Amino acid sequence: MKKPSSAVGASMLMGCAVLLVGWQVHAEPNRTTMPDIEKLIHYTTVTRGEVTEHLMTTREAMEAVKRGDPIPAGSHVVLVDYRDDKVFRYFVMEKGQDWGADYDQDRRTGDWQFQWFKPDMTINMDENTARCQSCHTSRADRDYLYSFNEMRRFEFE
Ligand code: HEC
Repeated sequence: MKKPSSAVGASMLMGCAVLLVGWQVHAEPNRTTMPDIEKLIHYTTVTRGEVTEHLMTTREAMEAVKRGDPIPAGSHVVLVDYRDDKVFRYFVMEKGQDWGADYDQDRRTGDWQFQWFKPDMTINMDENTARCQSCHTSRADRDYLYSFNEMRRFEFE
């Protein structure tokens, strides 16, 4: 027998909404996934003191940049942050069809979403990825990428 439980349903929904709002203050699991790093091309390295960053993406993403086209949906860009020759963290950007619609206009970074993964590839729940977006917004004219020119100049083997 079906339960006529609209009141219970409504309060459960509200409970979820509260939970979700509370959740977002601290961390934001979003649509960004951890890609298979082995399948990406290492296109440039940034070193700063103890930090070595390998910037990686797909051939398709770089070909689009070279043509002057937007990077296609489904692309990943990863910054692998090494300290003492070990992975310290992965910073990941992933673009998906209309993914930007998940955010308000003032936060939106095109159709990119951002995530911080730990070395074991779980999400860092202490990070609010709005910070990633607010910084990368300054590169809106270069598909939100700092290393846009490095992608453009990269020569495939
Ligand atoms: C204060 C500004 C700032 C913040 C905050 C920031 N980034 Fe970046 N990001 C940069 C800069 C600058 C680079 C270029 C590499 C470098 O200089 O280290 C970069 C590079 C990247 C790249 C390589 C592609 C590119 O744009 O060149 C990825 C991926 C990335 N960041 C993801 C993230 C993620 C995920 C977060 C949040 C967890 C984040 N970033 C937060 C400034 C920022």
